[in-house]
Amino acid sequence: MTLHLLEKLKEWTFSLQGKFILTASVCILIFTTVGSFIILEREKNLYKLDIVNQGKVFAEISRVMLTNVMIYNDLGIMDRQDTIDYLDYFIMNLMERDRRIKYVAVVDNDGKVVAHSNIADFGYGTQYRDNAMLLAMKTLQPLIAEEYFENKPVISIATPLNISTKKWGGLAIGLSTEEMQKAVNILKKEIVYITLIFSTISLLIISIGAKVLAKPVIKLSSIMDNIKTKVDLEQYNIEFKDRRDEIGKLKKSFLWMIQRLRDADREHKKTLELLGQSEKMAAIGKLASGVAHEINNPLGGITVCFKNLMKTDMDEATKQEHIEVVNDGLLRIKNIVEQLLNFSKMAVTEKSPADLNSLITRQLLLLNYYLSEKKIKVVREFFEQMSVIALDENKMGQVIMNIMINAIQAMDNGGVMTVRTRQNKDSCEIEVEDTGKGIPVDIMGNIFDPFFTTKTVGEGTGLGLSVSRGIVEQHGGIIEVESAVNVGTKFRIKLPDM
Ligand SMILES: Nc1ncnc2c1ncn2[C@@H]1O[C@H](COP(=O)(O)OP(=O)(O)O)[C@@H](O)[C@H]1O
Ligand SMILES: [Mg+2]
Repeated sequence: MTLHLLEKLKEWTFSLQGKFILTASVCILIFTTVGSFIILEREKNLYKLDIVNQGKVFAEISRVMLTNVMIYNDLGIMDRQDTIDYLDYFIMNLMERDRRIKYVAVVDNDGKVVAHSNIADFGYGTQYRDNAMLLAMKTLQPLIAEEYFENKPVISIATPLNISTKKWGGLAIGLSTEEMQKAVNILKKEIVYITLIFSTISLLIISIGAKVLAKPVIKLSSIMDNIKTKVDLEQYNIEFKDRRDEIGKLKKSFLWMIQRLRDADREHKKTLELLGQSEKMAAIGKLASGVAHEINNPLGGITVCFKNLMKTDMDEATKQEHIEVVNDGLLRIKNIVEQLLNFSKMAVTEKSPADLNSLITRQLLLLNYYLSEKKIKVVREFFEQMSVIALDENKMGQVIMNIMINAIQAMDNGGVMTVRTRQNKDSCEIEVEDTGKGIPVDIMGNIFDPFFTTKTVGEGTGLGLSVSRGIVEQHGGIIEVESAVNVGTKFRIKLPDM
């Protein structure tokens, strides 16, 4: 089941439609991914810029105010407690202005905490560890850094509290990027949804487009497939709508090609017909002496009976017996002559319901003498309930005859020819097996070629199998062969059961 599906998928992937849709899908995937990434990055940068700008404004305002306080403290205008109170008040005020502010830290020139929004954790006078702030104080330049505060991402803006080269400490404000992250996450989701919806719609449109585009090509390819399997080109009606694109041109060339194929096919059939006829004549030549004997034998009996009947002193019962023998003999002669005439008739190429078993029996009748002369035993293994199939009896009879003559010719010192019929689910089989010399492997590939023969002139024409194969194929069937040198050969004809 899954294997079957996998096969189907593989087939689809290699089809024109599949390739087109796959290529389009990959393109859509690449473009949407790259596009989404660019949009996300831009949006993230915008958010970040907003945070940084806001932070810079806070830092600048605070820097001026706090520098003053630090100077007052330095000059002793404000005592230490007032300074701390003021700074705490300032920090509290600042943090209320923007919820994004996660911390504010003020340190003195030695890097020791003077004030902090979280004084419980960062006690007064403790050494403050923030490289960005230390660097800012050292270089006397504001600095922006991305850090973590209490395990949450923040953008830290550090600035020295200075007037030109004199400094009184440093300040750091940390703004949370959590909201930015949230917004970016929401945007990500939106982008995924939108991409999914648009990709699905585009794929649908592309699939429909691909189908419409591929339709005529698929039709052409299915016609090709049909032509491959159906032998009769004549019955093939091909209708195309006029198109002005490349497919239209392709169709025109295709029609032209089919026409050529039809012409060639007609020629081929004509040739086959002629070859068939000449092969038939050759077979008749071979049968003629046998038939003469077949006629001669009963003729002898008839003559004797006739002479006896002329005598007048015969009682009624004996007379009847004689008449019966004459009648039987005449019937046999009639049968054999009829069969020979039938066989030699020019082909009529018409299919009608036929019974394979009786067709074979009638061919065997003509071979009777030939078989007994060569001391060949015939074994019939017929499947009795054979279904009636549509055949050109004349031609199929010729095929059976060709194969049986080949079998007889292969058995020089007598042997057994087994003729079987078999019924399969959707085919009928005829099998002719001999115990003859067999076919060497190196000529196996040639035996169906026209004019290929291993027999002397007069014995074989080399046309039997090639003609036979042509006829079997005209019936939609196949010929198979199995052979072993010095053991025997088996020819099998499989005909579709229609
Ligand atoms: N039953 C068979 N046993 C051995 N060889 C065979 C048999 N049938 C066919 N062949 C080989 O195939 C060749 C071609 O057969 P065919 O086309 O009937 O031509 P022909 O019988 O006139 O030679 C034969 O010459 C023979 O070599
Ligand atoms: Mg032959």
